Amino acid sequence: MNKNLRAAVIAGNWKMNKTRPEAKALVEELKPLVKDAACGVVVCVPFTNLETVLEAAKGSNIKVGAQNCHFEKSGAFTGEISADMLVEMGVEYVVIGHSERRQYFGETDVTVNKRVKAALAAGLNVILCVGEMLEDRELGITDELVAMQTKIALNGVSKDELKKVIIAYEPVWAIGTGKTATAEQANEVCAMIRSTVAKLYDKAAADALTIQYGGSMNAKNADELLAQPDVDGGLIGGASLKAPDFSIIVNAASK
Ligand code: PGA
Repeated sequence: MNKNLRAAVIAGNWKMNKTRPEAKALVEELKPLVKDAACGVVVCVPFTNLETVLEAAKGSNIKVGAQNCHFEKSGAFTGEISADMLVEMGVEYVVIGHSERRQYFGETDVTVNKRVKAALAAGLNVILCVGEMLEDRELGITDELVAMQTKIALNGVSKDELKKVIIAYEPVWAIGTGKTATAEQANEVCAMIRSTVAKLYDKAAADALTIQYGGSMNAKNADELLAQPDVDGGLIGGASLKAPDFSIIVNAASK
Protein backbone atom coordinates (compact mmCIF):
# COMPACT_ATOMS: atom_id res chain seq x y z
CA MET A 1 0.00 0.00 0.00
CA ASN A 2 1.34 3.36 -0.98
CA LYS A 3 0.49 6.36 1.17
CA ASN A 4 1.27 8.68 -1.73
CA LEU A 5 -1.87 7.48 -3.46
CA ARG A 6 -4.08 9.31 -0.99
CA ALA A 7 -4.34 12.58 0.88
CA ALA A 8 -3.55 12.89 4.57
CA VAL A 9 -6.30 14.78 6.36
CA ILE A 10 -6.43 15.99 9.95
CA ALA A 11 -9.91 16.99 11.07
CA GLY A 12 -10.89 18.56 14.35
CA ASN A 13 -14.20 17.53 15.84
CA TRP A 14 -15.09 20.29 18.26
CA LYS A 15 -18.24 18.46 19.42
CA MET A 16 -20.51 20.67 21.57
CA ASN A 17 -17.85 23.23 22.46
CA LYS A 18 -17.11 26.89 21.78
CA THR A 19 -19.29 29.98 21.56
CA ARG A 20 -18.92 32.15 18.46
CA PRO A 21 -16.28 34.48 19.95
CA GLU A 22 -14.34 31.45 21.23
CA ALA A 23 -14.63 29.77 17.83
CA LYS A 24 -13.32 32.84 16.04
CA ALA A 25 -10.41 33.13 18.46
CA LEU A 26 -9.47 29.46 18.02
CA VAL A 27 -9.46 29.68 14.22
CA GLU A 28 -7.45 32.92 14.27
CA GLU A 29 -4.89 31.26 16.52
CA LEU A 30 -4.79 28.16 14.34
CA LYS A 31 -4.39 29.85 10.95
CA PRO A 32 -0.71 30.84 11.19
CA LEU A 33 0.19 27.56 12.93
CA VAL A 34 -1.11 25.34 10.11
CA LYS A 35 -0.62 27.55 7.07
CA ASP A 36 2.23 25.45 5.67
CA ALA A 37 0.54 22.09 6.26
CA ALA A 38 1.16 19.47 3.59
CA CYS A 39 -2.06 17.70 4.61
CA GLY A 40 -5.73 18.64 4.52
CA VAL A 41 -6.90 20.59 7.58
CA VAL A 42 -10.59 20.58 8.51
CA VAL A 43 -12.47 21.86 11.54
CA CYS A 44 -15.90 20.37 12.21
CA VAL A 45 -17.76 22.82 14.39
CA PRO A 46 -21.21 23.20 15.96
CA PHE A 47 -23.91 24.46 13.56
CA THR A 48 -24.08 27.77 15.42
CA ASN A 49 -20.38 28.40 14.70
CA LEU A 50 -20.38 27.58 11.00
CA GLU A 51 -20.87 31.11 9.69
CA THR A 52 -18.31 32.59 12.10
CA VAL A 53 -15.71 29.91 11.32
CA LEU A 54 -16.29 30.09 7.54
CA GLU A 55 -15.65 33.83 7.74
CA ALA A 56 -12.57 33.44 9.97
CA ALA A 57 -11.10 30.67 7.79
CA LYS A 58 -11.66 32.54 4.50
CA GLY A 59 -8.49 32.68 2.40
CA SER A 60 -6.72 30.12 4.60
CA ASN A 61 -6.06 26.40 4.07
CA ILE A 62 -8.55 25.48 6.80
CA LYS A 63 -11.71 23.79 5.49
CA VAL A 64 -14.93 23.85 7.45
CA GLY A 65 -17.22 20.96 8.31
CA ALA A 66 -20.43 20.32 10.23
CA GLN A 67 -20.90 17.42 12.65
CA ASN A 68 -24.06 15.92 11.15
CA CYS A 69 -26.79 16.50 8.58
CA HIS A 70 -30.22 15.06 7.96
CA PHE A 71 -31.07 12.77 5.06
CA GLU A 72 -34.19 14.57 3.86
CA LYS A 73 -33.89 17.70 1.75
CA SER A 74 -36.38 19.77 3.78
CA GLY A 75 -39.60 19.46 5.72
CA ALA A 76 -41.02 18.72 9.15
CA PHE A 77 -37.86 17.51 10.91
CA THR A 78 -37.59 19.77 13.94
CA GLY A 79 -34.04 20.32 15.08
CA GLU A 80 -32.41 18.93 11.96
CA ILE A 81 -30.21 20.58 9.30
CA SER A 82 -30.13 19.48 5.65
CA ALA A 83 -27.05 18.91 3.53
CA ASP A 84 -28.22 21.63 1.10
CA MET A 85 -28.36 24.15 3.96
CA LEU A 86 -24.71 23.40 4.71
CA VAL A 87 -23.64 23.61 1.08
CA GLU A 88 -25.40 26.95 0.62
CA MET A 89 -23.30 28.37 3.49
CA GLY A 90 -20.03 27.19 1.94
CA VAL A 91 -19.49 24.22 4.25
CA GLU A 92 -17.43 21.52 2.50
CA TYR A 93 -17.31 18.62 4.98
CA VAL A 94 -19.68 16.78 7.28
CA VAL A 95 -19.06 14.13 9.93
CA ILE A 96 -21.59 11.30 9.67
CA GLY A 97 -22.21 8.42 12.05
CA HIS A 98 -20.03 9.56 14.94
CA SER A 99 -20.29 7.05 17.78
CA GLU A 100 -21.82 9.74 20.03
CA ARG A 101 -24.65 10.10 17.48
CA ARG A 102 -25.03 6.32 17.41
CA GLN A 103 -24.90 5.95 21.23
CA TYR A 104 -26.94 8.93 22.40
CA PHE A 105 -29.14 9.92 19.47
CA GLY A 106 -30.35 6.63 18.04
CA GLU A 107 -28.33 6.65 14.81
CA THR A 108 -28.25 3.26 13.16
CA ASP A 109 -26.20 1.89 10.28
CA VAL A 110 -29.26 2.45 8.11
CA THR A 111 -29.75 6.12 9.03
CA VAL A 112 -26.00 6.64 8.72
CA ASN A 113 -26.19 5.26 5.17
CA LYS A 114 -29.10 7.60 4.35
CA ARG A 115 -27.18 10.59 5.69
CA VAL A 116 -24.02 9.62 3.80
CA LYS A 117 -25.98 9.41 0.54
CA ALA A 118 -27.78 12.71 1.14
CA ALA A 119 -24.54 14.50 1.99
CA LEU A 120 -22.79 13.15 -1.12
CA ALA A 121 -25.76 14.00 -3.34
CA ALA A 122 -25.52 17.59 -2.08
CA GLY A 123 -21.81 17.69 -2.92
CA LEU A 124 -20.35 17.51 0.59
CA ASN A 125 -17.22 15.60 1.55
CA VAL A 126 -18.15 13.00 4.16
CA ILE A 127 -16.13 11.91 7.17
CA LEU A 128 -17.81 8.60 7.92
CA CYS A 129 -17.17 7.25 11.42
CA VAL A 130 -17.05 3.55 12.25
CA GLY A 131 -15.71 1.73 15.28
CA GLU A 132 -16.34 -0.96 17.86
CA MET A 133 -17.32 -0.77 21.51
CA LEU A 134 -15.09 -2.31 24.18
CA GLU A 135 -17.46 -5.34 24.49
CA ASP A 136 -17.13 -5.97 20.76
CA ARG A 137 -13.34 -5.95 20.97
CA GLU A 138 -13.42 -8.28 23.97
CA LEU A 139 -15.73 -10.64 22.08
CA GLY A 140 -13.29 -10.65 19.18
CA ILE A 141 -15.82 -9.24 16.69
CA THR A 142 -14.12 -5.93 15.87
CA ASP A 143 -13.38 -6.83 12.27
CA GLU A 144 -16.84 -8.23 11.49
CA LEU A 145 -18.56 -5.30 13.15
CA VAL A 146 -16.48 -2.55 11.55
CA ALA A 147 -16.70 -4.27 8.15
CA MET A 148 -20.48 -4.42 8.52
CA GLN A 149 -20.71 -0.74 9.53
CA THR A 150 -18.58 0.16 6.51
CA LYS A 151 -20.60 -1.96 4.07
CA ILE A 152 -23.98 -0.66 5.23
CA ALA A 153 -22.82 2.97 5.33
CA LEU A 154 -21.49 2.75 1.77
CA ASN A 155 -24.47 0.86 0.36
CA GLY A 156 -25.52 2.66 -2.83
CA VAL A 157 -22.46 4.94 -2.87
CA SER A 158 -20.85 4.93 -6.34
CA LYS A 159 -17.13 4.58 -6.96
CA ASP A 160 -17.09 8.17 -8.12
CA GLU A 161 -18.88 9.36 -4.96
CA LEU A 162 -16.42 7.38 -2.82
CA LYS A 163 -13.74 9.91 -3.83
CA LYS A 164 -15.51 12.36 -1.51
CA VAL A 165 -15.55 9.98 1.44
CA ILE A 166 -13.04 9.76 4.27
CA ILE A 167 -13.51 6.91 6.73
CA ALA A 168 -12.60 7.58 10.35
CA TYR A 169 -11.90 4.48 12.41
CA GLU A 170 -12.75 5.40 15.97
CA PRO A 171 -12.77 2.64 18.58
CA VAL A 172 -15.47 3.83 20.98
CA TRP A 173 -13.43 2.79 24.02
CA ALA A 174 -10.68 5.21 22.97
CA ILE A 175 -12.84 8.30 22.49
CA GLY A 176 -12.35 10.95 25.13
CA THR A 177 -10.98 8.35 27.52
CA GLY A 178 -7.27 8.99 27.13
CA LYS A 179 -6.99 5.31 26.13
CA THR A 180 -5.53 5.35 22.64
CA ALA A 181 -5.50 2.25 20.50
CA THR A 182 -1.92 1.15 20.00
CA ALA A 183 -0.50 2.13 16.65
CA GLU A 184 -0.65 -1.55 15.62
CA GLN A 185 -4.31 -1.90 16.68
CA ALA A 186 -5.22 1.27 14.79
CA ASN A 187 -3.37 0.17 11.68
CA GLU A 188 -4.85 -3.34 11.76
CA VAL A 189 -8.43 -2.10 11.65
CA CYS A 190 -7.66 0.69 9.14
CA ALA A 191 -6.10 -1.95 6.86
CA MET A 192 -9.14 -4.19 7.33
CA ILE A 193 -11.41 -1.29 6.33
CA ARG A 194 -9.27 -0.72 3.23
CA SER A 195 -9.54 -4.37 2.21
CA THR A 196 -13.32 -4.26 2.79
CA VAL A 197 -13.51 -1.23 0.48
CA ALA A 198 -11.31 -3.03 -2.08
CA LYS A 199 -13.82 -5.88 -2.13
CA LEU A 200 -16.79 -3.50 -2.44
CA TYR A 201 -15.19 -1.39 -5.21
CA ASP A 202 -11.67 -2.23 -6.35
CA LYS A 203 -8.04 -1.91 -5.25
CA ALA A 204 -7.53 1.48 -6.87
CA ALA A 205 -10.54 2.93 -5.03
CA ALA A 206 -9.30 1.45 -1.76
CA ASP A 207 -5.75 2.72 -2.29
CA ALA A 208 -7.08 6.23 -2.90
CA LEU A 209 -9.28 6.25 0.23
CA THR A 210 -8.17 8.39 3.17
CA ILE A 211 -8.67 6.46 6.42
CA GLN A 212 -8.27 8.36 9.66
CA TYR A 213 -7.78 7.10 13.17
CA GLY A 214 -9.67 8.85 15.96
CA GLY A 215 -9.78 8.32 19.72
CA SER A 216 -7.53 10.23 22.09
CA MET A 217 -5.08 11.15 19.34
CA ASN A 218 -2.96 13.96 20.69
CA ALA A 219 0.24 15.93 20.24
CA LYS A 220 2.26 13.18 21.93
CA ASN A 221 0.99 10.03 20.18
CA ALA A 222 0.17 11.47 16.72
CA ASP A 223 3.60 10.75 15.22
CA GLU A 224 3.47 7.05 15.94
CA LEU A 225 -0.15 6.61 14.83
CA LEU A 226 0.32 8.61 11.63
CA ALA A 227 3.47 6.68 10.73
CA GLN A 228 1.36 3.54 10.25
CA PRO A 229 0.95 2.54 6.59
CA ASP A 230 -2.86 2.49 6.64
CA VAL A 231 -3.47 5.47 8.94
CA ASP A 232 -3.83 8.51 6.68
CA GLY A 233 -4.87 11.12 9.19
CA GLY A 234 -6.84 11.72 12.32
CA LEU A 235 -10.21 12.82 13.62
CA ILE A 236 -9.33 14.76 16.72
CA GLY A 237 -11.73 15.63 19.54
CA GLY A 238 -10.25 17.01 22.74
CA ALA A 239 -6.90 18.00 21.29
CA SER A 240 -8.57 20.00 18.48
CA LEU A 241 -9.81 22.55 21.03
CA LYS A 242 -6.28 23.83 21.64
CA ALA A 243 -4.56 25.41 18.63
CA PRO A 244 -0.97 24.48 19.63
CA ASP A 245 -1.90 20.80 20.18
CA PHE A 246 -3.96 20.57 17.01
CA SER A 247 -1.19 22.16 14.96
CA ILE A 248 1.39 19.67 16.27
CA ILE A 249 -0.86 16.86 14.98
CA VAL A 250 -1.30 18.66 11.63
CA ASN A 251 2.45 19.03 11.33
CA ALA A 252 2.96 15.37 12.23
CA ALA A 253 0.66 14.44 9.32
CA SER A 254 2.58 16.77 7.01
CA LYS A 255 5.80 14.80 7.29
P1 PGA B 1 -11.12 12.42 21.27
O1 PGA B 1 -12.41 12.36 20.28
O2 PGA B 1 -9.96 12.83 20.40
O3 PGA B 1 -11.49 13.45 22.28
O4 PGA B 1 -10.96 11.05 21.85
C1 PGA B 1 -12.30 11.86 18.99
C2 PGA B 1 -13.65 11.89 18.33
O5 PGA B 1 -14.65 11.61 18.99
O6 PGA B 1 -13.76 12.20 17.12
